[in-house]
Amino acid sequence: MSISSGRSDIIHHLPPDHLERSLRSDVLAGLSTSPKTLPPKWFYDKLGSELFERITGLPEYYPTRAEREVLELFAGEMAAACPAETLIELGSGSSRKTPLLLDALGQAGHLRRYVAVDVSDSALLEARNELAPQFPGLNLDAVAADFETQLHVLPREGRRMVAFLGGTIGNFEPTARARFLSGVRELLEGDGGSLLLGTDLVKSPAVLVPAYADADGVTADFNRNVLRVLNTQLGGDFDVMAFEHVAVWMPQEEWIEMRLRASRPMLVRLPGVGLEVSFHEGEELRTEISAKFRLEGVVNELESAGFSVAGQWTDRQGRFAMTLAQAS
Ligand code: SAH
Ligand code: TRP
Repeated sequence: MSISSGRSDIIHHLPPDHLERSLRSDVLAGLSTSPKTLPPKWFYDKLGSELFERITGLPEYYPTRAEREVLELFAGEMAAACPAETLIELGSGSSRKTPLLLDALGQAGHLRRYVAVDVSDSALLEARNELAPQFPGLNLDAVAADFETQLHVLPREGRRMVAFLGGTIGNFEPTARARFLSGVRELLEGDGGSLLLGTDLVKSPAVLVPAYADADGVTADFNRNVLRVLNTQLGGDFDVMAFEHVAVWMPQEEWIEMRLRASRPMLVRLPGVGLEVSFHEGEELRTEISAKFRLEGVVNELESAGFSVAGQWTDRQGRFAMTLAQAS
């Protein structure tokens, strides 16, 4: 199914009722269990995408700069190992780092098409406007789709490289992560395709925690934005500022957990899902995990999903890794 919308140059694969239906079932499921949870993709409305963009520039948030450095140093080697015709980027956001990869793939010789995939229309549109003048000879597709459930709508022809940057893989739970990696491998079957995966690495909590709890409170604002989305989409009456941003390092799981803590008892109405949710003082709602990885762990997970690893690179300080894995 492909609906081309008059609104933009975006190819829409999200079902028209995606926002209502899938948000509703996520909210119903997440807010009626204990502890309460909400899935992270609902952070990214227009304001959410803008706030994330601000996070990437924060002094405490090193992953974006570290990953950019890896690309600056090694994109040529990555492109030589997989000289793809089509670059498909999942959760592409602003596509700020992508030109480094597009340039390298262009020099490797076969690049013809870039497919940006994201749930955020506004991010897709902005990225497209930035990239089009920089890469006049390239076919640019902006695809609105959910990478967890809709990999089947993505192109299957020609040699492809799937890029999944920003450490977004860490936002999956381990079982969903394994399912996702198998799905990507299945998408890449044949044609010598590969996955380029960006993963943030395990390091001292003294560095990790501030990256998710910056001094200016931008991350706090981003985290609370998910409540604003529920207010807007479901007619909710969350008192957004009554929730405190919490970022905790979980040493056993090796992930950062983002939570919103109720600063007083509250009864929140969500007419859009016919729900009344009560919070006791201090109750925490889990909004996001950001798993951190070890080099050999990334290799193991990719191999379990049927990939063979062709290369692995880090920034000079060893903070962030990029792994290139062949699907066949
Ligand atoms: N790749 C960019 C952005 C990372 S932020 C970078 O490295 O800076 C994560 C991005 O994934 C956001 O743009 C968000 O809108 C998108 N996203 C989150 N969940 C998604 C999903 N289920 N399907 C598609 N895109 C998703
Ligand atoms: N993919 C990003 C990461 O895990 C997303 C992110 C950064 C995020 N900061 C956040 C998600 C704060 C929720 C809250 O690094």
